[in-house]
Amino acid sequence: MKAAQWVAEQGRKREDTEIIFVDPVEFSLPSDGDQIRDSRYTEITAKADAFYVVTPEYNHSIPSSLKRLLDSEFDNYRHKPVATAGVSSGPWGGVRVCEALLHVYHTMWMVAVKPELYFPKIQEMFDEQDHMKPEFEAMQAKNVQNAYDELVWFARALKAAK
Ligand SMILES: Cc1cc2nc3c(=O)[nH]c(=O)nc-3n(C[C@H](O)[C@H](O)[C@H](O)COP(=O)(O)O)c2cc1C
Repeated sequence: MKAAQWVAEQGRKREDTEIIFVDPVEFSLPSDGDQIRDSRYTEITAKADAFYVVTPEYNHSIPSSLKRLLDSEFDNYRHKPVATAGVSSGPWGGVRVCEALLHVYHTMWMVAVKPELYFPKIQEMFDEQDHMKPEFEAMQAKNVQNAYDELVWFARALKAAK
């Protein structure tokens, strides 16, 4: 959650983005499939021009709450760009969940942008006030702005092409 909030904060510094923060646990989807939806989430995805997924890695893959939200919509994701950041308590920063998500995005006609961000050993990355420690911030801040630049570029291009 700290990493996701940090990524959202970086987006809020930009003049070309408006951020809607989504926490999958706030949505209630009782079973599988794309017919059972949460109308609040449908509304958000309809409005969104781009997505930034920040996710922990669970058993080298996608947490079920995130996968459930991805599965619940189809048309509202299609032909929209998506950036990804992986979070882990281990040393690899969620690189495996980022890779696993590429297959899902591709299947849903989403456009995955680079660079991906990785938050390894997340328990060591933030101080007690929940600020990212300076030794991590410099590199992460540059990468996250590069990812936002790509999202904005693709969002404009894809919207114009529709
Ligand atoms: C079910 C489960 C599976 C996990 N699998 C991994 C894993 O494969 N690799 C890893 O580095 N960390 C793993 N973790 C640790 C999570 O990455 C860490 O808890 C997470 O970054 C913190 O976010 P959370 O509080 O939302 O779980 C796992 C945690 C849980 C609960």
